[in-house]
Amino acid sequence: MRIGILGQRRSWHVQTLQDAFLKRGIPCDFLSITKIIAGVSHQPYASSEGVNLEEFDALVIRSIPSGSLEQVIFRVDVLHRLENLGVMVINSATTLERSVDKYFTSSLLEDAGIPTPRTVVTERFESAMEAFVQFKDVVVKPLFGSEGKGIVRVQDEDMAYRVFKALELGNYVFYVQEFIPHFNRDIRVFIIQDEPVAAMVRESDLWKTNIARGAKARPLDITPEFRELSVKAAKTLGAFYAGVDILEAEDGRLLVTEINGIPGWYGLQGATGIHVADLIAKNLIEFLSQKRK
Ligand SMILES: Nc1ncnc2c1ncn2[C@@H]1O[C@H](COP(=O)(O)OP(=O)(O)O)[C@@H](O)[C@H]1O
Ligand SMILES: [Mg+2]
Repeated sequence: MRIGILGQRRSWHVQTLQDAFLKRGIPCDFLSITKIIAGVSHQPYASSEGVNLEEFDALVIRSIPSGSLEQVIFRVDVLHRLENLGVMVINSATTLERSVDKYFTSSLLEDAGIPTPRTVVTERFESAMEAFVQFKDVVVKPLFGSEGKGIVRVQDEDMAYRVFKALELGNYVFYVQEFIPHFNRDIRVFIIQDEPVAAMVRESDLWKTNIARGAKARPLDITPEFRELSVKAAKTLGAFYAGVDILEAEDGRLLVTEINGIPGWYGLQGATGIHVADLIAKNLIEFLSQKRK
């Protein structure tokens, strides 16, 4: 058995994951996702840094860096090709496509009957303004974003006008979501193979509760309610592993805001003491061993 990790750089997550496989006696290489060479009627069909990617039993994707539309689509298309050639890709190309795009995720959640905030997504400035007027207090999110970067809260009509005008200049898609008062905290449940393995509450002085934005984490007991909601959400995306974000609204509703298909676990591990990388490695190795039988 041989595992590959595809990413952009040797981050803490890549390193911890690689160590977890190596400790279990499984060879594990790190390769750059931006250095892929793909062949058609030409071998190898996909390689990176001189290594044939077909040689791996599974590839764990730890980053799909931003780039031009062509670059991003090409990277994901190669993952589809590798799956067609029999390599297990984690998370799968389809799961990554679904989770990287906030509109795609939100709509799948809704169609699966999972509560998620009211949102309007549009290319038209006028329609974005109408959504603001309707919701009155909104968060505007980049369609492909993470760690809270670039998300702004808008409560003032002139501010909405300026924000949307600026986004219009860059040909952005407007993702306008009603602001949910949430006591400046949210819940992250980490799922591996449809099983919650760890959860935390992230609390902040600010409404954005990403750890990357300074929120503090404390461990959370996974109640049956959180279990059901988070597992259902992860299943919607077909994720092998996922981070499910849940807002506990001040009016008592539980709303799923996002599902991360390349979730981090630095803060979660710090808060809970659970060695997430080892659990991912353990589950994947067992899964691949079962498949071979
Ligand atoms: N509709 C909302 N109302 C209030 N706060 C929100 C809403 N959506 C997101 N947030 C806050 O912003 C943070 C980042 O939003 P999220 O959708 O998870 O994007 P990212 O992918 O950047 O993490 C969340 O952790 C949450 O604290
Ligand atoms: Mg988030």
